[in-house]
Amino acid sequence: MECFFNCDEDKFKELSKKNKIEWNIQFKNNKNSIIEYGKDSKNTLLCLKSIPVSNQDFEYINNFPKNGNITTCWRELYIYQNMESIHKEYKSFNYLSIYTSFISTKEKRPYLSLLFPYIPLTLRDIMVYNSFSRNDINYIYIQIFFLGYYLSLKNIKHNDIHIDNILVDILQKKIDLYFVFENRKYILPNQTTVLYLIDFGIAEITTDFNPEIFKEWGFFFEKLEELFQIPPLFSKCSSFREIFKYILQFKILKPDYSNILS
Ligand SMILES: Nc1ncnc2c1ncn2[C@@H]1O[C@H](COP(=O)(O)OP(=O)(O)O)[C@@H](O)[C@H]1O
Ligand SMILES: [Mg+2]
Repeated sequence: MECFFNCDEDKFKELSKKNKIEWNIQFKNNKNSIIEYGKDSKNTLLCLKSIPVSNQDFEYINNFPKNGNITTCWRELYIYQNMESIHKEYKSFNYLSIYTSFISTKEKRPYLSLLFPYIPLTLRDIMVYNSFSRNDINYIYIQIFFLGYYLSLKNIKHNDIHIDNILVDILQKKIDLYFVFENRKYILPNQTTVLYLIDFGIAEITTDFNPEIFKEWGFFFEKLEELFQIPPLFSKCSSFREIFKYILQFKILKPDYSNILS
């Protein structure tokens, strides 16, 4: 999808036409943002999230407040970019890259449109239709742990972590996932699902360490334990480090001695 790089709305429409992409609006969305799905002639699936641009966004067009409680559409884009950079740095596959972003107009209103790969399922979907072994649950927990831990390294508080804001890719064949904790590299082998965190619409960035960031993940793990109907797993831990020690006891994460980061 490199062809979409750096395009504006006109170019986007032109490329959609050229690649025979038809866009369909997701109808269940009752929020402000508009989600559209498309498929090109090679069956590549795409998702376009369009976020309304408010007067406040125009006020902050050049210098949006990165922290504090004023939320702007620019910050959502900025956080996606931050998340991508940390995951890339650590060779992780658990992020969605934004192919392009541009200002668009829908019914005469301005939007910030973000183009992503389309991931068909959410964590809610797989929880409704699947039954899970203890190992499956551990895999899901480990991946979610790293989604939260990496955000915490950038002092990002999501503020809206729930099972609709985690997308799940189901793969045809098993892959190894790579993670880093405190400068040590690890492999999570033989994964058939890859989890991604989305929706930074009301996320915040603090200038330094914020204990609230860990707390929101603690609450989410507690919620998941209720949904999976399992005894406390990560929710009894009080820091990312404590959870990580616990993860090592599963004996699933393998130290990675290759030079993947160097
Ligand atoms: N890249 C994507 N691929 C597939 N579906 C997506 C994607 N991004 C979002 N969605 C779907 O759209 C819903 C709303 O997107 P989200 O970014 O959470 O916006 P909102 O701020 O409206 O909650 C998600 O819960 C998910 O079902
Ligand atoms: Mg959402």
